[in-house]
Amino acid sequence: MSTPRKVLVTGGAGFIGSHVVDAYARAGSDVTVIDDLSSGKREHLPDSANLVVCDICSEEAKELIASGDFDVVNHHAAQMDVRVSVNDPGLDATINIMGLLNLLEGAREGGVERIVFASSGGVVYGESNDLPHPESAPKLPVSPYGVSKLTSEYYLCAYMHMYGLKAVSLRYSNVYGPRQNPHGEAGVVAIFGNQIRKGEAVTIYGDGSQTRDYVFVGDVARANLLASEWDPGAASSLDAAAFNIGTGVETSVTALADSMIEGSGKDIAVVHVPARTGELLRSAVDGAKAERELAWSPEISLEGGLRQTYSWVMEMAG
Ligand SMILES: NC(=O)c1ccc[n+]([C@@H]2O[C@H](COP(=O)([O-])OP(=O)(O)OC[C@H]3O[C@@H](n4cnc5c(N)ncnc54)[C@H](O)[C@@H]3O)[C@@H](O)[C@H]2O)c1
Repeated sequence: MSTPRKVLVTGGAGFIGSHVVDAYARAGSDVTVIDDLSSGKREHLPDSANLVVCDICSEEAKELIASGDFDVVNHHAAQMDVRVSVNDPGLDATINIMGLLNLLEGAREGGVERIVFASSGGVVYGESNDLPHPESAPKLPVSPYGVSKLTSEYYLCAYMHMYGLKAVSLRYSNVYGPRQNPHGEAGVVAIFGNQIRKGEAVTIYGDGSQTRDYVFVGDVARANLLASEWDPGAASSLDAAAFNIGTGVETSVTALADSMIEGSGKDIAVVHVPARTGELLRSAVDGAKAERELAWSPEISLEGGLRQTYSWVMEMAG
C-alpha cells in the first residue's frame, strides 16, 4: 500500500496527533480528525483537515468511522495521565479500552483496512536494568494506564485474527517537541521550557538521576506514516505487530535540564523536590526492529530537537 488516500486521526488536535495529521496531509492524504478538544486545540490543525468534535466513546465517532470509507484509522486520543488512571481506573478504562472498542467496531463495519495505534514503551514494559527494552521484553505495566495500553494492543491482535484488520502498535518512548502542553503532569521538556522562558527555577523531582529516552515528535510522525504502509504479512503475535519508537539513548533529567538551560543562554537555578512515588528509575526502548522493518530511525538529535522546542515555546509566549 502506498500513501493512504483517506485517513482518520483520533486525538489529531493534540500534541503528537497534530504532527501526525501534518505528515499525512503533506503526503497527500485526505485527513479527518476526531477530537473532543479536552486538551487538543483546533489551531494545531492545518486548514485542509476536517475536524469532527466528538468523544471517541460516542455513537457519532463509531458511525463516522463506519461510513467514512477510511483506509487508515490512526488512534491517538487517550486518557494519558498515569496519576488520573491510578485515581480513577474506571475512567481510564472507559476512554482507553471502551473507546478503542467503539472505534474498532466502527472500523469493522466500515471495512477499514488498517489501524495505527499510539501505545507506550514507557509503561507496557516493567522496570528493569536490561535496557533498552526490545519489543520482546517482559510486559509488566504497573499502572491502570499501562494496563489499558497493553490491553488495547491485545484487542488489536484479536481483531487482526478475527477480521483480517491490519493493526500496528507504536510503542513510543518520551515524545517531546513543539505543541506539547507545558501545564500538565507529562512532558518534562515542555515544563522545563516554560520555566526557563519565565526565568523560573527548573524543578526536578528526586535527585535527577532518573533516565528517559527522548524522541522528537517529527520523528514520531514519520514513523506513523511508515507504519501506515507497513505490510504486517502473517504477523501473529503481540510483539510482531508492535514497534518501539525511541532512540535507545538514556538521558538523565539532570542532563536534560542542564542542556536546556545552557541552550537558552539564561542563568537559571535548578531546585530538587521530593521524588514522586511510582516513577520508573530508568526507561529506554530499542528501535532496531523499526529500523529493520519500517526503515525508521530517529533523525533529529536531542540538541536539535530541544532547540526547535524552545524556539516554539518562546514564539508562543509572543
Ligand atoms: N507524549 C508522550 O510522550 C507519549 C508517550 C507514549 C504514548 N503516548 C500516546 O500518544 C497519544 C497522544 O498523546 P499526546 O502526548 O499527544 O497527548 P495530547 O493530550 O496532546 O493528545 C490527546 C488528544 O486526544 C484528545 N482526546 C482525549 N480524550 C478524548 C476522547 N475521549 N475523545 C476524543 N478525543 C479525546 C485530546 O483533546 C487531545 O487532543 C496518547 O494515546 C498517548 O497515550 C504519548
